[in-house]
Amino acid sequence: MGDMDDGTAPQPVNLHELEAMARERLTESANAYVAGGSGDEHSLGWNVSAWADIRLAPRFLVDVSAIDTRCRLLGHDLAAPLILAPAAAHRLYHPKGELETVRGADAAETLHVQSTLATVAVDEVGATATGPWWFQVYVQRDRGFTEDLVRRAEDAGASALVLTIDLPVLGARDTDRRSSLGLPPGVEYANLRGLPLVPDPLPPERRVYNPHLDPSVTWADLDWLTSLARVPVLVKGVLRPDDARRCLDHDVAAVLVSNHGARNLDTVPATAQALPGVVAAVDGRLPVLVDGGIRRGTDIAKAIMLGATAVLIGRPYVWGLSVYGADGVKLVVDMLRTELELAMGLLGAPTLADLTPDLLWPPDLTQSTT
Ligand SMILES: Cc1cc2nc3c(=O)[nH]c(=O)nc-3n(C[C@H](O)[C@H](O)[C@H](O)COP(=O)(O)O)c2cc1C
Repeated sequence: MGDMDDGTAPQPVNLHELEAMARERLTESANAYVAGGSGDEHSLGWNVSAWADIRLAPRFLVDVSAIDTRCRLLGHDLAAPLILAPAAAHRLYHPKGELETVRGADAAETLHVQSTLATVAVDEVGATATGPWWFQVYVQRDRGFTEDLVRRAEDAGASALVLTIDLPVLGARDTDRRSSLGLPPGVEYANLRGLPLVPDPLPPERRVYNPHLDPSVTWADLDWLTSLARVPVLVKGVLRPDDARRCLDHDVAAVLVSNHGARNLDTVPATAQALPGVVAAVDGRLPVLVDGGIRRGTDIAKAIMLGATAVLIGRPYVWGLSVYGADGVKLVVDMLRTELELAMGLLGAPTLADLTPDLLWPPDLTQSTT
């Protein structure tokens, strides 16, 4: 902490500037890992452009003297409907890795979803956290190992589990193939210590399976996870309305619309496009969260208007972590929260409940309240 007080560099005023600063600082392989998408990176661009393509229809002469972004999510009070998505290997970005992230999240009054592929063990992160945090689950071939890890996360204080369903095999990422992303010396997947890996006999360019993850996971394994979990289970990576509807029959606490930051299957739709179908399918019976390409406060406002309860960010807080550690994580959340407040003020929507679909352009006059 304190990295931002040295007065040497001007503070970034938006995420573009922060991204450029992170790029300067990181090694080529760390840059490639955080920035990269899959295939030709079509979905990567769409994730960002789809939010921008949605137009707004502000309503003026509304009293916006008390703008309130506070939100309640699965029992937690958050400063804004914005939380930190799971991202692997934070020690690629900061020597203290996930410990800095969780400090930043706590300072910003948000929550961090810690990845199975973290580089600091879940127990240590739990001991550092002063606020709520969740644990993201990748299921290993050795189910006993996964069960132990889930128990460790719960015992360390995770208040929800997030099962990521969209990575049954490796993401189709050229950048990873080129650099075959080995972790630097002294950095390891701390939660997976002792996990027996299934060695892949094929050369890197022929590899399909992730040595850390089980490619045979199905809906039955989701039931297995919900039956052993003592905390709510969310499902991350839902794009299809029928998969979202199916979640309703599986003791799921929330559905997370995501395409994994466009890092797995290229040409899947932008999450902004997938969100309305999932919201309609779930029909108010579960909270719907969304991530992918959220870079401005207006993006958060649009996600709420389309029916999301909250959004997650991935790359942006990794940039903050890379440049300023915990302070940078807080900076990113505060920046987006401020932009959201500006958007709400300018839209004539002082509360999150006021962010209704009739503020999307063209305005639906049949929904108008006046
Ligand atoms: C560097 C990096 C690592 C990631 N690692 C994981 C992971 O371990 N588990 C997971 O469920 N998602 C992972 N994701 C996906 C994020 O949780 C999230 O879905 C995505 O980053 C959101 O898109 P955005 O980066 O455009 O905000 C990762 C994303 C990035 C950028």
